[in-house]
Amino acid sequence: MRVVEASTLVPGTTLRQPVYNEHGKMIVNANIPLTEEMINRIHKLAIPFVLVHAQSSEYLIGMTNISKPLRTEITEKIEDTFVKLISEDFNLRGLSLEKNSSRPKEMIKSLQNELWQQKDVLSLLVDVLLYDEYLFTHSLNVAMYSLGIGTALDLSKNELNLLGVGALLHDIGKMAIPKKILNKRDRLTDDEYAFIKQHTIAGYDLLRQVSCIHPIVADCALQHHEKINGSGYPKGLFGEEIHLFSKIIGIADFFDAVTSNRVYRQAMLPHEGLALLMNGSDKLYDAKLISIFSDLLTVYPTGLHVKLSDK
Ligand SMILES: [Fe+2]
Repeated sequence: MRVVEASTLVPGTTLRQPVYNEHGKMIVNANIPLTEEMINRIHKLAIPFVLVHAQSSEYLIGMTNISKPLRTEITEKIEDTFVKLISEDFNLRGLSLEKNSSRPKEMIKSLQNELWQQKDVLSLLVDVLLYDEYLFTHSLNVAMYSLGIGTALDLSKNELNLLGVGALLHDIGKMAIPKKILNKRDRLTDDEYAFIKQHTIAGYDLLRQVSCIHPIVADCALQHHEKINGSGYPKGLFGEEIHLFSKIIGIADFFDAVTSNRVYRQAMLPHEGLALLMNGSDKLYDAKLISIFSDLLTVYPTGLHVKLSDK
């Protein structure tokens, strides 16, 4: 499988996943050779990328037709972001990593080194940023929250790097979802929601194709929406069946999603997001991990002064 720009589709290519319009109606089915007419239908929808079956001779990570200067520019943008994360005082919606230990900057630096050594991982991250800036920012936030929890759990440097890469790429399957569905203001139809859920499998399939990527990283993409009571997706796994990293990323993902402004929803304040997370403690999310995450956050909104009791 590979991700390709829809504008580069040629007849005979087969899609890995069907293409839907904004009403959730299937426009072109998967696994059948595309005709010119089908490609025109896809172009009319203005979908930027689609997932196709890779030919054995093809390079697995697509979008090779993106110009080199643009790729270099985006790579530099990612590098600058990491430099800022390392050099400035880190505070993300109440998350103060410094509070946790002296390791946070070290661990972000280590993740940055990992990305620059594994060019395929960096290339995928460039693809994410090119697809959608919010998806990139969200992935980066999820990585910072996840690393905060991972550090508090005293994970090794190697484990933290895997957790960080898993978090950065956890939603990569969303590149296969049309933006019209991804950023829809109105309530999703059942078909659209079912399609969005596919991003877990799409991400897993994509990451499993990249030989330098550890299988745990692909599992993070597959399992980050699983819930410990079995109510999650795509497999409905229970408790211990879900990998620790996926449980951590699931918590970070939920918190960042509800505390971010989206076209269809106003951001919650950090303490509201945390309260919602705690509601799911031991039902949806691992209680110990939530407690660790809550300890990492200083959730009082800026300007709110807490009156101390006289007693
Ligand atoms: Fe997701």
